[in-house]
Amino acid sequence: MQRHPAHVGSGTDLPPHLTSSPVQLRAATLADFEAITDLIGHIDLKRRTDDIGPIFELIRTALATGQGGTGPFTHGSLHFVVAEHADHSGAIGLVRCGVASWTASLAVPSPIRNRLYSRIGNIQELAVAPEHRGRGIAHALLHRAEADHRAAGYDAIVLRHQREQTSFYTQAGYTSGSRLTLLLPGGLGRVSVPGAGWRWAVKPLVPPVSVVDIHGSPALTGLLSPRDPA
Ligand SMILES: CC(C)(COP(=O)(O)OP(=O)(O)OC[C@H]1O[C@@H](n2cnc3c(N)ncnc32)[C@H](O)[C@@H]1OP(=O)(O)O)[C@@H](O)C(=O)NCCC(=O)NCCS
Repeated sequence: MQRHPAHVGSGTDLPPHLTSSPVQLRAATLADFEAITDLIGHIDLKRRTDDIGPIFELIRTALATGQGGTGPFTHGSLHFVVAEHADHSGAIGLVRCGVASWTASLAVPSPIRNRLYSRIGNIQELAVAPEHRGRGIAHALLHRAEADHRAAGYDAIVLRHQREQTSFYTQAGYTSGSRLTLLLPGGLGRVSVPGAGWRWAVKPLVPPVSVVDIHGSPALTGLLSPRDPA
């Protein structure tokens, strides 16, 4: 059963029963940069220190300019949502997501590759400050990321995670495995993306997209179907 956070609202769209919520979700701004780097510091990214500098620079530039490439998100192709107490005392949780840049190197015809790029969302980082964990904040950030991708026309959302977080993501409705497979439409077969030491977790956002099991790992099917007009 999927639980919903009892204490987290979504910024200005708080439903009436959550108006006393002490935590809100909102788009990040440049003022959040330091808190965001602290939050990302809690994630074992298995990246070399040399690789993290350019990521922070990308984030700082996106927050400073409001631009992070072309896309429908808070900062173009990048989407930053932070959790903060209602007294605006600073970000205590972060989800950074947006386009799945790895789709650009898939060995598929370029029209299909371009469509996958605009229909599969990717969560890059999810983190909550240690003293605020266990209150449903990460689940609320995930839920918000999913809703925002769905609203932007995305079919599915995916992320890479460590083995220890498997139950966290399965509780949130994700299917996890050691590789990710995309079953392509139009008889194009399938492409697989290895986890390279990580696990992939996937969640369909709209019907008819669904997950099937291939050799113990998730495969997304029903991708790129025409959308009903809103
Ligand atoms: C993983 C992480 C983001 C979880 O953050 P969190 O805010 O504590 O997560 P939640 O409170 O939403 O869920 C944690 C637990 O609290 C429970 N929980 C408590 N209240 C809840 C509520 N109202 N709604 C949903 N779940 C709730 C959940 O069931 C969950 O249980 P689990 O440990 O069995 O999965 C956090 O531990 C973290 O930042 N870790 C370091 C960074 C990291 O590893 N990030 C993931 C990288 S992919």
